[in-house]
This record gives sequence, structure tokens and C-alpha cells, in this order.
Amino acid sequence: MQIVTTINEVRTIVSEWKKQNLTVGFVPTMGYLHEGHQSLIAKSVSQNDKTVVSIFVNPMQFSPNEDLESYPRDLEKDAILCEKTGADLIFHPQPEEMYSNNFCSFVDMNGLTNNLCGKSRPIHFRGVCTVVSKLFNIVKPDKAYFGEKDAQQLAVIKQMVNDLNIDIKIIGCPIVREADGLAKSSRNTYLSDKERQAALILSKSLKYGKTLIENGERNSQKIIDKITEIINTEPLAVIDYVSVVDSLTMENVKTIEKDVLVAIAVKIGKTRLIDNFSYSV
Ligand code: PAJ
Repeated sequence: MQIVTTINEVRTIVSEWKKQNLTVGFVPTMGYLHEGHQSLIAKSVSQNDKTVVSIFVNPMQFSPNEDLESYPRDLEKDAILCEKTGADLIFHPQPEEMYSNNFCSFVDMNGLTNNLCGKSRPIHFRGVCTVVSKLFNIVKPDKAYFGEKDAQQLAVIKQMVNDLNIDIKIIGCPIVREADGLAKSSRNTYLSDKERQAALILSKSLKYGKTLIENGERNSQKIIDKITEIINTEPLAVIDYVSVVDSLTMENVKTIEKDVLVAIAVKIGKTRLIDNFSYSV
């Protein structure tokens, strides 16, 4: 496995692979990799001849009040995980390599990004779409892998490749959880022992919401109220949103008649965590 930091190196290596008619899978990440990321890499390795992983904490998707500086980083450990999972190349650029001083082009989206995380993080998806477009142009993969943990991001990327005729197949991968239910996240490392325990309220409340729907409840507000009530039993938890949305448009739905995403964002202390489940009618 190789680790490179420049766009030119990635282009040279990938074009050599393409000459040999090898297929290329791509897993974009911000590093501090865990089993969630690993499941994406493993899927790419199983479906492609070569797998590229990018590790880049993208400044453009963080607001000034967010955790860009403190976002955890450990390239050495990440490299070990990538290598043992079968990745062939890590692209680890510095911000200057991705954003020149006169950088001024952006990829942005309406609609899909107005609700959920887009509402509380207004510039977030512009940063995600811009960096992912750049990475797609640099790596030129056949397939790219994204986690359902960030369900809105997955929907946004699918919409983007469709709208902009980007010839890359987007593959969604299921949420990987800790044994006790907490969705794996690089940000879980911020949690103190007490907060780590409190964070279980996310998956617990969603599990209850899912049971309600499975038992026939179709009124979104009733599901939202119950999930909210459960989260509010946890003193350390502060709700950002609890929403039932159309899986494709990310718009709130009143009655569950089509496939929906039930998504929550909750602050535990200073750490903002997200979780979700999908329900197919
Ligand atoms: P990051 O948070 O590092 O996540 C990289 C990929 O791993 C995303 O597709 C995310 O959904 C997936 N992932 C994270 N935790 C997961 C879990 N518990 N189970 C399954 N998949 C999981 O998402 C980003 O980085 C950035 O926004 C990025 C797309 C790299 C653009 O900068």
C-alpha cells in the first residue's frame, strides 16, 4: 500500500491502473478510522481491483464555531487499518494541496440540504459537495462508498452525481455500531465515560421509534414525540433535531406512506452526534 500527498501522484498511479483495465473503488474519509470506515474499505476491496482511501479533514465543511482544530487525527494508525483491510493507496493531502489561495469555485445544492444537518450546519454540504467533486476528479474511481450513518450526505452525493452526470456508481453501506448500540464515529472519542453512557440514548430512542413504526404507527408526530420524550430522560442530552423525512427528498413527512428516514442529531455535552434508521413501506 502506498501513501501519497499530491494530486499528481494519485493521477499517475490511477492512470497506470486504468491502462491495465483495473477497476478502482474509492472511500473518502476524514481519518481517525474505525470499523465503520473499515466496512466501506472492505466492501470496495471486495468489489474492485484497486481501492483508494482519502484521508483529509476538509476545512470547507466546518463552520468557524465547529471542531476543525480538535478533530482527531492519527495517520499511522489509519494506515495500518487501511493496509490490513486491503486498500492499495491512501491519498493524504494538506489543505494547501486541495485549496489554492485563489480558490473560488463551489458545488452547492438546494432542497436536499435545507433540512436536518443542513439546517443546523448551513455551509456544511457545500463543503462536502465541493471536496467530494474534487476528490472524484482526482481519483476518477468507478465506484465510491459512503455510509448510511450520514444518510443525508449519502442522499446529497447520489443527487450530485446524477445532476452533474458524474460517471461514478455510489454505493451506500450500513451503519456499524458498538456492541451496546452506539453508532461508531470518530467524534465518539470526545466523550467522557459519563457522556459515553449518556450517548446510548440515541440508539435506544431510535430503536423504540422503529418498533412503533413496525407496529403500524404512521403518524410522524407521534413517533417524533416518543423519541423526543425518551431522549429528554437523559439529562446530558440536548436535541438538535428529531425528524421523519422522505428518504429521497429529505423533506418532513406527516404520514408515513413512502420510504422514510428517521434521523436525529443530539448534543451530548459539547459533542454533536447523529444517528438514523430507514423504513421501507
Ligand atoms: P467521515 O466522517 O470520516 O466518514 C467517512 C465515511 O465513513 C462516510 O461515508 C461515513 O458515512 C462513513 N461512516 C462513518 N461512520 C460510520 C459507521 N458507523 N458506519 C458506517 N459508515 C460510517 O463523511 C465524511 O468523513 C466527510 O464528510 C467526507 C465524505 C470524507 C467529505 O469530507
